[in-house]
Amino acid sequence: MTEYKIALVGFGGVNRGLAQLIADSNPSWQATLGFSLKIVGVTDLFLGSIIGRDGLDAATLVRLPAAKGAFAQLPGGSADAMNEEVIKHSGADIVAEATFTNPVDGEPATSFCRWALQAGKHLVTTNKGPIALHAAELKALADAHGVRFEYEGAVMSGTPVIRLAKQALAGSRIKGFEGILNGTSNFVLTRMEEGLGFAEAVSKAQALGYAEADPTADVEGFDVRLKVVILANELLGAHLGVNDVSCKGISGLSAADIDAAQRDGARWKLIGAAQRSADGSIHASVEPRLLKAEHPLAGISEAINAVSFDTELLGAVTVSGPGAGRIETAFALLSDIIAIHTAKTGQ
Ligand code: HSE
Repeated sequence: MTEYKIALVGFGGVNRGLAQLIADSNPSWQATLGFSLKIVGVTDLFLGSIIGRDGLDAATLVRLPAAKGAFAQLPGGSADAMNEEVIKHSGADIVAEATFTNPVDGEPATSFCRWALQAGKHLVTTNKGPIALHAAELKALADAHGVRFEYEGAVMSGTPVIRLAKQALAGSRIKGFEGILNGTSNFVLTRMEEGLGFAEAVSKAQALGYAEADPTADVEGFDVRLKVVILANELLGAHLGVNDVSCKGISGLSAADIDAAQRDGARWKLIGAAQRSADGSIHASVEPRLLKAEHPLAGISEAINAVSFDTELLGAVTVSGPGAGRIETAFALLSDIIAIHTAKTGQ
């Protein structure tokens, strides 16, 4: 019986979702996945922290109120975040990092990732900041310490993109990709096609919880730009930084632009793309594009995301699914843990 001890860093929607999956499904995972998970520590800058080396009850953790210092309510809990202690000294085999994305320097998440890898812990994260800005350094750290570093949820939450491309499409010669990589902006464009104003549509996306804390990152393309950097570097072997990707959002699109497109049977979509040219150089961009009905991404509506890989051997291969959501993103962490288990056991 394999049991992995896991520490949760950040206890907002995503890691709470993972605790929910553990509470619901852990007993069946031995049979279906070949392992179970034991939560040995949780730390959160707002809620505080708790360490339980013999295992913490996942259902109790899920019920914890989202109130400042709430971990102090549990026996052995503290109102203070003890990030370093939980990451390094809770006895975890795996650290699940799901704190907020800082698009400027990736902190404090990147430090949490470094601590985990330097302490010889496998690391799973859904955080775009450390991957877009520091992936090479973190991968080298993981290699140096003989541990796995997995981050499927950084792009399109639990919808498989990174491992799909790197494993199932290995050898297909991916030349580029185009993606609808931000649910908020796609939701806004869909509502505008129905006649809603831009600001009203953004408010709806915020109310539904799709938008980033600052929705400017969604509608001006900055969130997509991070995802383009991640995919271009992962899938095309690029070495792009954020400033290498031109970026234009959807705030300049008017109701008249949307109407005109619809009359032509076309749709405006915010597209994040990268393409390898014949000379090997890689051009990457984020911009609104007018897609004809036959384009593989033209039918993607609402908050759904999609990416279409341009491969030499198969042509366009397209995957669509959710790109956000607490359980959807928590599933990405589970898929990362499954990848760690598979790598360890060779199954
Ligand atoms: N705000 C993002 C979106 C969430 O709307 O897609 C996932 O990165």
